[in-house]
Amino acid sequence: MRIAMIGTGYVGLVSGVCFSDFGHDVVCVDKDPAKIDTLRTGRTPIYEPGLEDLMRRNVEAGRLSFTGDLAEAAAGAQAVFIAVGTPTRRGDGHADLSYVFAAARELADVMDDGTVVVTKSTVPVGTNRMVAQTIRARLDETGRKIGFEVASNPEFLREGAAIEDFMRPDRVVVGAETDRAREVLREIYRPLSLREAPVMFTSLESAEMIKYASNAFLATKITFINEVADLCEKVGANVKEVAKGMGLDGRIGPKFLHAGPGYGGSCFPKDTMALARTGQEHAAPMRIVETVIAVNDARKRRMAEKVIDLCGGSVNGRKIAVFGVTFKPNTDDMRESPALTIVPALIGQGARVAVCDPAGRKEGEALLPGVEWVEDPYEAARDADAAVLITEWNQFRALDLARLRGVMKGDGFADLRNVYDPAEAERAGLRYVSVGR
Ligand code: UDX
Repeated sequence: MRIAMIGTGYVGLVSGVCFSDFGHDVVCVDKDPAKIDTLRTGRTPIYEPGLEDLMRRNVEAGRLSFTGDLAEAAAGAQAVFIAVGTPTRRGDGHADLSYVFAAARELADVMDDGTVVVTKSTVPVGTNRMVAQTIRARLDETGRKIGFEVASNPEFLREGAAIEDFMRPDRVVVGAETDRAREVLREIYRPLSLREAPVMFTSLESAEMIKYASNAFLATKITFINEVADLCEKVGANVKEVAKGMGLDGRIGPKFLHAGPGYGGSCFPKDTMALARTGQEHAAPMRIVETVIAVNDARKRRMAEKVIDLCGGSVNGRKIAVFGVTFKPNTDDMRESPALTIVPALIGQGARVAVCDPAGRKEGEALLPGVEWVEDPYEAARDADAAVLITEWNQFRALDLARLRGVMKGDGFADLRNVYDPAEAERAGLRYVSVGR
């Protein structure tokens, strides 16, 4: 099977690389010449464990290549995936679909007869039909006489675990309404059937909805346990015990029940917002999702207050060490990270902030002006009045707490991911606060 992948962002690149690893011939195309140059030298523009190796291996095997030229990528491809960005549009919270439609229009000029155009970008309900209309309108305009099919194939991979998620998904969702589209997608994902990952065929609208509803549900689950954590603090319960007890109920499940500083990332904030907008537009308000968005935003602000409280009500002139600023571990992605609310709030109150993050500096330097970047957590904590763990990188999961206390001036430690045992932290001489315990 020959596949073209439009867009070498997170989803596009991971999908393209993994499809080539399935044995398909994949050409990835991107408008950004700098990205193509980077990829051609064997490096990935994003940080994702294992991706570079897998990419090189498939390039060497001759199954994977990169180009800036859509016509070259689309020539001979039975399936063309659109995996371009759908950022939140400024002003109204809608997903900005201009990149998707631009890709569809350009594709109409260059694709072969019978191509299946598959949208992998997360797109609001109704978009796939609009992609079909866009292509048809362009074909009418140019007088090209070719047939094509559309399909929706949302992606559920998580950053930092992208390859594992792609190769061993819980399910593959395909919205496809013709035999040919279903056949092509079934063929593409055939290697996964050996691993017994169900490929589920639905209508276009259902596939689009499954993606948004899943992400909104997970964001709700996190936000729910975060609010439970706040209540636990008031009534003297321990949210870790509560989450474990809840999660053992098979109907609830243990995943995504870790209380923390609020969800961030490239998907949950954007997708919850877009789903809420879709609901409003269709007079079917997603009230729970709207509340989740508001509660999560407020939570990030409250986390800064938690640190300020730990410092006796003021951080003016204090030094704060921050461990982890990316929205989660194993990524360099800072999008909507709680750190982007917490760190500026501390600086705004007069704190000096030293940040240690294994991968966040590249993006973080522009996003967090005024912080000092330090390679080593103990160095960041030197003479600090307090330390805050925002992102649970492995490097911060096994800190020597006595050593940490030893290099600090003050004794406050806010563990916003509940990594440490409170008794152990106290034995190390730290005044320890966490979330929901
Ligand atoms: C998410 C979805 O999991 C994935 O299916 C979808 O395709 C894209 O969005 P991702 O954003 O990469 O993936 O990360 P994820 O691991 O889901 O975490 C999202 C956020 O929720 C992070 O900020 C994380 O710290 C937070 N989180 C997650 C919690 O606070 N508690 C949890 O229990 C789980």
